[in-house]
Amino acid sequence: MTIKVVLGAQWGDEGKGKLTDILAPEAKLCARAAGGHNAGHSIVANGVSYSFHLLPSGLINPNCMNYIGSDVSFHVPSFFKELKTLDEKGLPNVYDRILVSERAHVNFDLHAAVDGLEEVELKDQGCSDIFDQELFETKLRRLAYGYKARYGDLLQYDVEEEIERFKGYRTELAKYAIDGLSFMHSAQTSGMNIIIEGANAVMLDLSMGSYPYVTSSNTTISGIIAGLNLNPKNITETIGVVKAYTTRVGAGAFKTEDLGQYCHLNYHPALESTQTDHFRNRVGETLQEQGREWGTSTGRRRRCGWLDLVVVKHGHMINYYTALNLTKLDVLDSFETIKIAIAYKDKNTGQNQELDSYPADHNVLDTAEVVYHEMPGWQKPTTSARTFYDLPKAARDYVQYIEDFVGVKIKWIGTGPDREDMITRA
Ligand code: GTP
Repeated sequence: MTIKVVLGAQWGDEGKGKLTDILAPEAKLCARAAGGHNAGHSIVANGVSYSFHLLPSGLINPNCMNYIGSDVSFHVPSFFKELKTLDEKGLPNVYDRILVSERAHVNFDLHAAVDGLEEVELKDQGCSDIFDQELFETKLRRLAYGYKARYGDLLQYDVEEEIERFKGYRTELAKYAIDGLSFMHSAQTSGMNIIIEGANAVMLDLSMGSYPYVTSSNTTISGIIAGLNLNPKNITETIGVVKAYTTRVGAGAFKTEDLGQYCHLNYHPALESTQTDHFRNRVGETLQEQGREWGTSTGRRRRCGWLDLVVVKHGHMINYYTALNLTKLDVLDSFETIKIAIAYKDKNTGQNQELDSYPADHNVLDTAEVVYHEMPGWQKPTTSARTFYDLPKAARDYVQYIEDFVGVKIKWIGTGPDREDMITRA
């Protein structure tokens, strides 16, 4: 039996979906533990691009069963819509290869309406409540009544319409909802090969991430164990997916963010001393364009900057990775020099000392100075490389540096969006 867990090692969008898809042929089961339909994976397989939001990407593999665990925020209309889209794109038997824990937290349109008014996540009903019509209606009306009292006409939500909609879903959903606890127990005792697809990433973890700009769930290995009822001893591999640079969506600390694009917009010719300076000012923008850094679900542009190994090490102290997948190495192909953040210096106390770990204290984090290690770029395409030694020497050095710094083997290197663009190292 193997249980492989794929986790985001930064702020999400690292390319976890592609690795999950590559590992899925070995697995009989692909499971999702947390997150909801706002997450977004894109996978290109055999020239077709698939977007996954709520559903596990193991659906691409026709022999793989898929399971949504109890801590997933389960939006019923999105579930059916996504299944329909995948079915129409030609994926075989999708309706027969997906199961949902009856304890999954149902996310109603009411939640989205209230979320728009205040930034909270509400999880008031388990999936199993849907099947008891009377209980469901009482609970939903009570919930809606409470929010109507609070927000009045600001709340654009018709509870009776929702109740009507769920009459249809109730019968359809019955086929998919299962007792997840005994399902996962027998999957483990029968020695099934399982791949687990983490949603979001370590820096978005409610407790260990860059609080308060985090999600409302545990996105680390502990969340996976809880949400899928795993025996931790059964986990054979915990893989951290690390993008070769850093990106972040929305607000919050981002020490290596390159704001060059704004400098560029306000750019004054008299300030340009050399061509190189000009190029350096546009690091963030270049990463954004080359890496196509905008969301699958939202289209929102991601903030970009150099790789931050302080963040990756922080994640390693939480998840204890047994292997890493470095993704999007090709996005760095054009750079003359490449920088990597390797430490933060404490400027808050005036002691100018390197911090031992990623600081929780915002004053320390905001004022910390980033220490960079600079390496030569390779300025050659890497996408056609099929083995580690096909990569230019400077690219191999970059990979080696990260591996040595974090102390975890980089077993996979992504060099392009296609499934084939992944170097596997023994
Ligand atoms: P979240 O669960 O939302 O964090 O998604 P994710 O981690 O799976 O990443 P997402 O699919 O949002 O973004 C990854 C994007 O990068 C997709 O469009 C992939 O096709 C693409 N991608 C993955 N690996 C590589 C790579 O090595 N090189 C390039 N150029 N693109 C890649």
